[in-house]
Amino acid sequence: MSNFPIREIPQLRLRHPLGNLPSVRFLPQGCQIRVASSEDAEAISMVLTGSFEEPWTSESVLRRLLDDPGVPLTFVAEQDGKIVGTASYQVKTEPDPEAGWLHWVAIHPEARGLALGEIISHRVLQEAFNRKRSCVMLTTDDVRLAAIRTYLRLGFEPDMWHETHESRWAKVMQNLS
Ligand SMILES: CC(C)(COP(=O)(O)OP(=O)(O)OC[C@H]1O[C@@H](n2cnc3c(N)ncnc32)[C@H](O)[C@@H]1OP(=O)(O)O)[C@@H](O)C(=O)NCCC(=O)NCCS
Repeated sequence: MSNFPIREIPQLRLRHPLGNLPSVRFLPQGCQIRVASSEDAEAISMVLTGSFEEPWTSESVLRRLLDDPGVPLTFVAEQDGKIVGTASYQVKTEPDPEAGWLHWVAIHPEARGLALGEIISHRVLQEAFNRKRSCVMLTTDDVRLAAIRTYLRLGFEPDMWHETHESRWAKVMQNLS
């Protein structure tokens, strides 16, 4: 690890083979998943700002998600009519133009523990499956244990393409056990 300055260490990557869609837990009462529109930009920015280390605004949600042609769909999770989560379906040309990507998954801290992250991620898997993508990929950070547990539960597998990945995954698995 010491040979790799922090900024050059690539994120962890996971891949879902999409052979069969996994089963998923039931939506809690009062919750729903739906496709987002531009009117949701402000609420999505609040969820993302509450979940990541960078500030989001309505403008950045529109530019990076809702108006980005590389992000055909963004979903939101609602609890009692309030947006508490989001996940997007992304397409990219590299490394596999046939793959779909699970992008910017977040559940507001006050709405965690209800499996909404799993359920909204499953919605993205379903979208990729319906669009006949070859697989679904995502990148994440070693410390995002709740997210990694969610992805493994859904059937994502570690995609170890970089020489640091094997040892980092061993540590992640140890931290999860
Ligand atoms: C990832 C995220 C969406 C999951 O939210 P959620 O669906 O409410 O899920 P939970 O917080 O209940 O956690 C999911 C699982 O991880 C477990 N978990 C939570 N915190 C954990 C931790 N610190 N270490 C290990 N496991 C943890 C939970 O027990 C749960 O396990 P289970 O499914 O076996 O019951 C949410 O934690 C989040 O928004 N995190 C910040 C943003 C982020 O990291 N996004 C992913 C970017 S790739």
